Amino acid sequence: MDANAKSETRSTFITGLRNAHAMENQALSIMRPQVERIENYPQVAERLRVHIAETEGQIKRLESLLEGVEEGTSTIEDAVMSAVGSAAAMGHSMAGDEILKNSFANFAFENYEIAAYKSLITLGRVIGYTQAADSLQQSLEEELAMAKWLEHNLEAVTMQFAHL
Ligand SMILES: [Fe+2]
Repeated sequence: MDANAKSETRSTFITGLRNAHAMENQALSIMRPQVERIENYPQVAERLRVHIAETEGQIKRLESLLEGVEEGTSTIEDAVMSAVGSAAAMGHSMAGDEILKNSFANFAFENYEIAAYKSLITLGRVIGYTQAADSLQQSLEEELAMAKWLEHNLEAVTMQFAHL
């Protein structure tokens, strides 16, 4: 890889870190209102609380990585995420089958995050920033665990919703 290509990959990586920062803030804005509205699904509320705390840690990780590659975090300006944002926009009440729709959207969002971290880890390795790859790997593990939990819980939540 020549110097030019490496510099371009580095800027792709930095943009990816900023996008991930926006993604995680969006994740918080999706999960926090859900937790407040959940009444009858304590296992979901508890797991969301755990993942909210993990997500706050992921945001800090991304900020310190951005500090490492830039002058500071003051330049972090979170762009609005379009595709996933609208798919997962769920600011309304927990009425009806909302718990199911939220379960689908949360699963979709976690898988989006998994893809984003995998891509960032690849870019970090390509530009030789292995420290970043390690830090991003920690976040990836948390996203994988959350996606797995959501997948396994889907049956239970569906059964409970249907009073089966
Ligand atoms: Fe997540």
